[in-house]
Amino acid sequence: MPIPEIHPSVAALDMICVESAAPPTAMIAFGASGDLVQRKLLPSIAQIHRRGLLSEQFCLLGCSRTEYSDEQFRQVAADAIRHSTGGISPSELTALLDRFYYLGGDYSDPGAYERIRTRLVELRRKHAIDGCDLFYLSVPPILYDTIIKHLGSSGLSCKNDPECRQRARLVVEKPFGRDLDSATQLNQTISKWFEESQVYRIDHYLGKETVQNIMIFRFANAIFEPIWNRNHIDNIQITIAETLGVEHRASYYDDSGAIRDMFQNHVLQVLALVAMEPPISFDADPIRDEKVKLLRTVRPFDPENLAGSIVRGRYGVGRINGQDVPAYLSEKGIAPNSRTETYVAAKLFIDNWRWKDVPFYLRTGKRLAKKNTEIVVTFKEPPHSLFGSVGLHHMPPNVLAFQIQPQEGISLRFQAKRPGSKICIGTLDMKFRYQDIFGVEMPESYQRLLLDCMTGDQTLYTRFDGIEVTWQLLMPVLQAWERSDEKPYEYPAGSESFPQADALLEVDGHKWHGLLTM
Ligand code: BG6
Repeated sequence: MPIPEIHPSVAALDMICVESAAPPTAMIAFGASGDLVQRKLLPSIAQIHRRGLLSEQFCLLGCSRTEYSDEQFRQVAADAIRHSTGGISPSELTALLDRFYYLGGDYSDPGAYERIRTRLVELRRKHAIDGCDLFYLSVPPILYDTIIKHLGSSGLSCKNDPECRQRARLVVEKPFGRDLDSATQLNQTISKWFEESQVYRIDHYLGKETVQNIMIFRFANAIFEPIWNRNHIDNIQITIAETLGVEHRASYYDDSGAIRDMFQNHVLQVLALVAMEPPISFDADPIRDEKVKLLRTVRPFDPENLAGSIVRGRYGVGRINGQDVPAYLSEKGIAPNSRTETYVAAKLFIDNWRWKDVPFYLRTGKRLAKKNTEIVVTFKEPPHSLFGSVGLHHMPPNVLAFQIQPQEGISLRFQAKRPGSKICIGTLDMKFRYQDIFGVEMPESYQRLLLDCMTGDQTLYTRFDGIEVTWQLLMPVLQAWERSDEKPYEYPAGSESFPQADALLEVDGHKWHGLLTM
């Protein structure tokens, strides 16, 4: 598809763009034969390379239990990159693949880490890499403990050597625990072998351009912050809707459900960015401090009245985009007596000066009508109508909406006079789509995140306390759902919501905004 030209209104602007190229890096990817490395990491590395931001002194050492030679791994990597990185030239690809290597082994064998160390010494010398070692865990979470302990006991984590410590970094994929205890335990294992400054816990939503834009929008414009509070905002909705089902991850998903898979991380991270106080600077710890502070002020769920604040659903048979799709319970690999939810909707309150009594309605679900991630801020109604017979009920409140995907954009809904009659008031949407204005495909969030961990910027990564506070909040819900015999409410695949999720808002006189079209 031809990429549209940059829009003249933006081309003429002075833009302040800051981007750092990656310094010399040796990346060690555990789980290199797996899906995430092939679908996300390798294509993102290829894009960083194409943008000229990957250091000449870079190498990737893939590790996993599969036995590949370097050549076989390069072949697999080439296929993965070609598949998802349109336009990469054969010479660009070869230049990159020449820096890919592979080492097979068992994660619980101390000898495997000795071999990694020896190989790293050799590769660092060969590629003149005088920079960091990035250990990337893209393996099932059950292996985190083993790999982290071995990285530590083999000395590869460098915790006790201040000079070497600057060099070793650990990147951990989600899920980060499955409850407060397991997350705390994992944090303890990590902190035994790594300093917090060496640790990068990934939440890929934080790498999405429009999610990052929440901070620029709020804190680089003077007009929004003064009204970003309970005096002017009536309610805020955050929706992450997917059309996909459980795909090939039935066993992981059936053990997690929407609350662990999406709500504990992506949904609450977006909430924190929307509602936090301004940080003292745009640096990792000030931002993460504010996010944690915000999450600590979320009013705890009342186990006696959970249904009034959080509900769960599960998809039944239905149709999406004209295709019949099976019910969750008929998906391959799902236990027939499963009580796992595929949809969570919640109403939260934030007990602080800014947000007291403003409801935040949050929801996420699989197999819904459309893929859509959006934040919708509804302002209060005008206090009084000046316009004679045009009552307040004809003047819907202003709505500011951010669409994070699939069409990244922002819209502001307001009332305006329509030409013609003496008084004719109508609702207008002022909106822009990134694609139309900036003329570029939005970069995959892993590009941002990988570049940041290579440059040592932890801003978009979650700190240990940011993980623990979210599990703390959700523990009463997880425990109550575990104890209960009730099944999740069933919604037909292809719907947007279901009555019990709607009821959370209806009691307050609100309704879901409806999935946006940008
Ligand atoms: C992942 C979840 O974290 O996010 C998946 O494990 C989900 O279940 C995915 O499909 C959604 O990500 P995105 O970027 O497609 O919205």
